[in-house]
Amino acid sequence: MELKETIEKRESVRSYEDKPVPEEKLKKVLEAARLAPSASNRQPWKFIVVREKKRRQELARAANGQTFVGEAPIVITAVATRVEHIMACGVPSHPVDLAIAVDHMTLAAIDEGLGTCWIGAFSQEKVKEILEIPEKYRVVALLPLGFPREGTKMKIRKSLGEIVCYETFTE
Ligand SMILES: Cc1cc2nc3c(=O)[nH]c(=O)nc-3n(C[C@H](O)[C@H](O)[C@H](O)COP(=O)(O)O)c2cc1C
Repeated sequence: MELKETIEKRESVRSYEDKPVPEEKLKKVLEAARLAPSASNRQPWKFIVVREKKRRQELARAANGQTFVGEAPIVITAVATRVEHIMACGVPSHPVDLAIAVDHMTLAAIDEGLGTCWIGAFSQEKVKEILEIPEKYRVVALLPLGFPREGTKMKIRKSLGEIVCYETFTE
């Protein structure tokens, strides 16, 4: 699939078919995260693949009760394993690194006929407890993964004129 088409097709999927994700497709999605760039190539991440139904449902409860999270056959949890590093620009690197890797997965999923939804509304403490993640690390995102049940929606976005300026910043 062309990158442009993949980007256009990616959308947040909040309803999944009750159908397992073939191992090969999961591997391709995870491989896309593995190849993502990161600050100084530190690759400060771990991706936990959760398949057990009971654990998925616990994650859904920890995600403010967003039940669709537990309905997807897989929930990938993206964990930052180096959280202290601040780039010279003053921005912490781990949320940036993890966002790139997770976005790679959302796009790779499209190429595999799968859907995802970035989940940022969850309890850090509860997810750590459910997945036995050490306190020193930081959970950045949950990513349900499965075959989408819903069709493509219209994208609501600001225009380029609103988000781009040239040479210097303008409000
Ligand atoms: C950092 C981040 C956190 C998000 N958290 C949630 C969430 O907890 N639950 C949810 O249903 N969608 C969540 N979303 C999905 C956004 O609502 C969605 O990307 C946005 O509305 C644009 O729609 P689209 O993804 O279909 O293009 C999140 C997206 C991002 C990037």
